[in-house]
Amino acid sequence: MTSLEKHLDERDLARSLRADVREGLAATPKRLPPKWFYDARGSRLFEDITRLPEYYPTRTERAILTENAQEIARITDAKTLVELGSGSSEKTRLLLDAMLERGTLGSFVPLDVSESALLEAVESLNSAYPGLAITGVVGDMTRHLRHLPDGDGRVVAFLGGTIGNLVPSERSAFLGDLRAVLHPGEWLLLGADLVKDPGMLVPAYDDAAGVTAEFNKNVLHVINRELAADFDPLAFEHVAVWDPAHEWIEMRLRSVRDQVVRIKELDLDVSFAAGEEMRTEISAKFRKARLAAELAASGFALRHWWSDPQDWFGLALAQAETI
Ligand code: AVJ
Repeated sequence: MTSLEKHLDERDLARSLRADVREGLAATPKRLPPKWFYDARGSRLFEDITRLPEYYPTRTERAILTENAQEIARITDAKTLVELGSGSSEKTRLLLDAMLERGTLGSFVPLDVSESALLEAVESLNSAYPGLAITGVVGDMTRHLRHLPDGDGRVVAFLGGTIGNLVPSERSAFLGDLRAVLHPGEWLLLGADLVKDPGMLVPAYDDAAGVTAEFNKNVLHVINRELAADFDPLAFEHVAVWDPAHEWIEMRLRSVRDQVVRIKELDLDVSFAAGEEMRTEISAKFRKARLAAELAASGFALRHWWSDPQDWFGLALAQAETI
């Protein structure tokens, strides 16, 4: 049983890319949102990142899930598992297995902006879990939460630390929107990367093999292709810095020389000075108490918290409260 619901099509995506590029390149300092990394090549590069020795989050979260999936299934008695930004379904399977074994689960709802990624995930899960009703939702998790199928006994999983891509104001808007579509008692399972030694954080975003640098520059390839621009990726350098005041990693692209980039589809010429840095991603790192406070401010009570023995990554299980 499989279906797909579309709330985003190529035209919506093209329109929001144009708006994001126009706005971000007019800002000071310049910025581009991280969601445009993930075309087919960018998604492949991210998969490569998850296997790098320096990039601990994916394997650490997977270990936490492996260890605790049964307890999560027992606590939540999930009837429906919703997954935001589902991407590769490997970690999802740990949850599906435990929830099916528990006997409560009837449906799985992955939501992703990429229709092709979603179809691929849905097809492979469909053959692995023939009894499960799977409804893929093509949508943007910051805009289309209200299109999630209604129900009760839902658990919304938002894994990988992707919450860290949102700045605090976006984070509280997102958590508030999510709370608004849930009924009291329903659950949010949230993966969050934790504050740690910058000596470990920075290499995770600036690996020796240069995969993250390629991933970062991929946004330039995407804009070249989609908006007929002429960014020279060789004229930009990958930069990853730890911002101790905000407790986030910032990825940037630094112009190696004075240059003007033509973005034909926007009829726009953009000047970069030598050494000028453009922000392409923030990846916020969390502390348990701060995350609990943010959840509470949005109507979620933190009920359970798991982490690895080194406290590198946290997995929060929070429950929608009566508002
Ligand atoms: C997919 C957003 C969780 O922030 O660690 C990996 C993306 N960026 N390396 C992260 C990413 C650079 C990743 N998330």
